[in-house]
Amino acid sequence: MRAAVIQRAGEPFRIEDLHLDEPRAGEVLVRILASGVCHSDLHVRDGEWPRPGPMVAGHEGAGVVAALGPGVDEVLAGRTVALSWLAPCLRCVACRHGRSWACTGSRALEHRLPDGGTRVHRPDGTPVLPYCGVGTLGEATVVPVEAAVALPDGIAAEVAALIGCCVATGVGAVTNTARVAPGASVVVIGLGGVGLSAVMGAVLASAARVVAVDRVAAKLDLAVELGATAAVLATDRPPTDAAIRAASGDGPDVVLEAIGLPATIEQAIELLPPGGTAVLVGMTPFGVRASFEPFPFVDGGRSILGSNYGSTIASVDFPRLAELHLAGRLPVDRLVDRRIGLDELEAAFDRLRRGEGARSVVVFDGDAGSARPG
Ligand SMILES: NC(=O)c1ccc[n+]([C@@H]2O[C@H](COP(=O)([O-])OP(=O)(O)OC[C@H]3O[C@@H](n4cnc5c(N)ncnc54)[C@H](O)[C@@H]3O)[C@@H](O)[C@H]2O)c1
Ligand SMILES: [Zn+2]
Ligand SMILES: [Zn+2]
Repeated sequence: MRAAVIQRAGEPFRIEDLHLDEPRAGEVLVRILASGVCHSDLHVRDGEWPRPGPMVAGHEGAGVVAALGPGVDEVLAGRTVALSWLAPCLRCVACRHGRSWACTGSRALEHRLPDGGTRVHRPDGTPVLPYCGVGTLGEATVVPVEAAVALPDGIAAEVAALIGCCVATGVGAVTNTARVAPGASVVVIGLGGVGLSAVMGAVLASAARVVAVDRVAAKLDLAVELGATAAVLATDRPPTDAAIRAASGDGPDVVLEAIGLPATIEQAIELLPPGGTAVLVGMTPFGVRASFEPFPFVDGGRSILGSNYGSTIASVDFPRLAELHLAGRLPVDRLVDRRIGLDELEAAFDRLRRGEGARSVVVFDGDAGSARPG
């Protein structure tokens, strides 16, 4: 199978022909149909998150179950699945307490299958790890059954792929982590796949005000089409903050940061009125610090929440997000900005660096839904 391989963090991905073993007990082989290009892949590509190599890149993928390992329920055969990049171990304290997004026992954290191995090899036998245990930027992957979440019939593969990362992350940050109440005022800073999903989540949660902020004007237009009630072009800090405050009414109840920059993380906290909550969704490079002034923060009873994977439980939330899409209430397809081949990944990363377009999606076999690559 062809796949995008990272040899060393910070180097371009290379497209290689790899061998994929049959699934073992408790595993399924998934033929990948679509894989979104998430900024987290760019963090790896640019060496901001050191990772072992060689590794099949990608974590926002979906496909069809093409083979079952021993013991796997046959109902999964042929089903469209979205892949979860944190297959829960179901044994650690977080999993046992119903917080599988905070699982500490998953071998996916080490980019391995539950038995510690990988089913991917180079022709010379060198093992190649699957990124986050899924490695979706290839034609196929073998994953633990906990990572393959069956979705309702009729869901397009590219929509399923985005549910597997940016949609679960952005919608979940609003509905699960922040539990935004109807009528609330919400600000979203950064309108990539994750931030635009947070905008859709805020609309779904019946927020009265949804203020979308980005430095790229085209992103604001898309956010407004998705239901944002106001859009603020990020320029210099004091005027930008004044515009955000004005658009958010008496002050935002919730500010979500969906970029991962210290400056915008600090901005999210500084924008809070007393009692407000900042939800940090964007991921920084390792070792980066942000700061805030504790006295007004504590005195004003403000909160900061970290949101990993939108505090979602994949087996519960992925099918629900798919049902919302099929019901016309979560227009995930609007995030698909362009469909590309594996060999166009570097160009997709350049677009991410410039903040251009919502989501590039790598499609395999030229069939990730209704549309053709282009
Ligand atoms: N918490 C999680 O579980 C989780 C999951 C997935 C992704 N992430 C992280 O979320 C972040 C966003 O991911 P994405 O794929 O949506 O990224 P993206 O690159 O597609 O989007 C980032 C957006 O921020 C905008 N931006 C950049 N600098 C800005 C600034 N100074 N002011 C205003 N806007 C600015 C860009 O124009 C772009 O629209 C990344 O850090 C990613 O690693 C976190
Ligand atoms: Zn992602
Ligand atoms: Zn666990």
